[in-house]
Amino acid sequence: MRILALETSCDETAIAIAEFSGSKSKPRIKALSNIVSSQVKLHARFGGVVPNLARREHEKNLAPILLRALKEAELLRKKKNAGFKINDSEFANILEREQELLKNFKKFILPIEKPEIDAIAVTYGPGLAPALWAGINFAKALAVWWNLPLIPTNHMAGHLYSATLQTDKNKWRVVKIKFPALALLVSGGHTELVLMKDHGKYKIIGSTLDDASGEAFDKVAKMLGLPYPGGPEISRLAIYGSSTSIDFPRPMINAKNYDFSFSGLKTSVLYYLRDTKNYIAANVAAAFEQAVVDVLVAKTIRAARQYKTKTILLGGGVAANKKLRKELGQKVEKELPKTQFLLPDISLTGDNALMIALAAFFNNKQKTPTAVGAEPNLTLS
Ligand code: KG4
Ligand code: ZN
Repeated sequence: MRILALETSCDETAIAIAEFSGSKSKPRIKALSNIVSSQVKLHARFGGVVPNLARREHEKNLAPILLRALKEAELLRKKKNAGFKINDSEFANILEREQELLKNFKKFILPIEKPEIDAIAVTYGPGLAPALWAGINFAKALAVWWNLPLIPTNHMAGHLYSATLQTDKNKWRVVKIKFPALALLVSGGHTELVLMKDHGKYKIIGSTLDDASGEAFDKVAKMLGLPYPGGPEISRLAIYGSSTSIDFPRPMINAKNYDFSFSGLKTSVLYYLRDTKNYIAANVAAAFEQAVVDVLVAKTIRAARQYKTKTILLGGGVAANKKLRKELGQKVEKELPKTQFLLPDISLTGDNALMIALAAFFNNKQKTPTAVGAEPNLTLS
């Protein structure tokens, strides 16, 4: 089964084509292409992602990136006799209010043959509504045009499954999740602990009451005058600082539930910077990072123990954080040595479409293309 996956929930325009073989319990995956086109530089000067700007960029880039992906996958064939007329009204409806997409569709997609793919997967939430709609409308138009099934896919499921992809001599291998499993999903918009009984069977047992962990990294970075996105900047700076130099709070670390809260920690950093003359930025970064990591690790270990999970997965943009990867790994090894621990490859921690293809493979809920819409607040359930 070949899946073409599209991801536009935030500021990356991502397209992947993945080929699956074998059964759902033991699949093999071949990434025929996996392209991530980041808009991060464009948004950096605004200090964060501007949703409508993201949408316009996606609309401009989707069709050309798709052609690149098809070419990489050796699935690109130009039509011999090109009578490119769109007269399908269903199709026209989808792109009616998407002039840029329509223009690019005519320019790039109509002149090519239907590629040898079996389904199209697209992220339909959670994410920024305008950004999501760009990918969804493009995917719907493709699905109708090529008469292919559409698999609406949850972005957070993508992050979760990204941890099961391991590289093996430049090839990807899907590691089998032993259930029940626990996933710590940490990104710019989310921080949650998800209990997973089986593929597609999720229960969120804890989530953030205010800021997401990535958001806290971004905000603290801003306070320190570092550029957006702040997560990687903080962790780079933290290497030169002492994590024990400042005693920032570990919010809710001892609370009996599995919820998180990072806004108080962020405020503590703000007050520290306001009240301290000649503070050392590297120390602030290191101490802040340690506080976040301590909370995430402690709660994950406690939840894994309570629910007797056989696998712990880490996913999302913040999963790129080296300290988090290392300390969670060490804690699992020491305290839950029988537990399988799955970390995403660094290249798959940020938003990408390969993870969407994989999540779609495991949760293949095909829908009539015209019935698919953006769900900005979609949760795993
Ligand atoms: O998953 P992602 O790429 O996009 C969302 O779905 O939100 O996550 C982006 C978040 C940003 O907040 C970014 O600052 C954070 O991940 N991030 C990091 C690191 N790399 C990215 N946070 C901490 N340490 C990092 N190394
Ligand atoms: Zn994400």
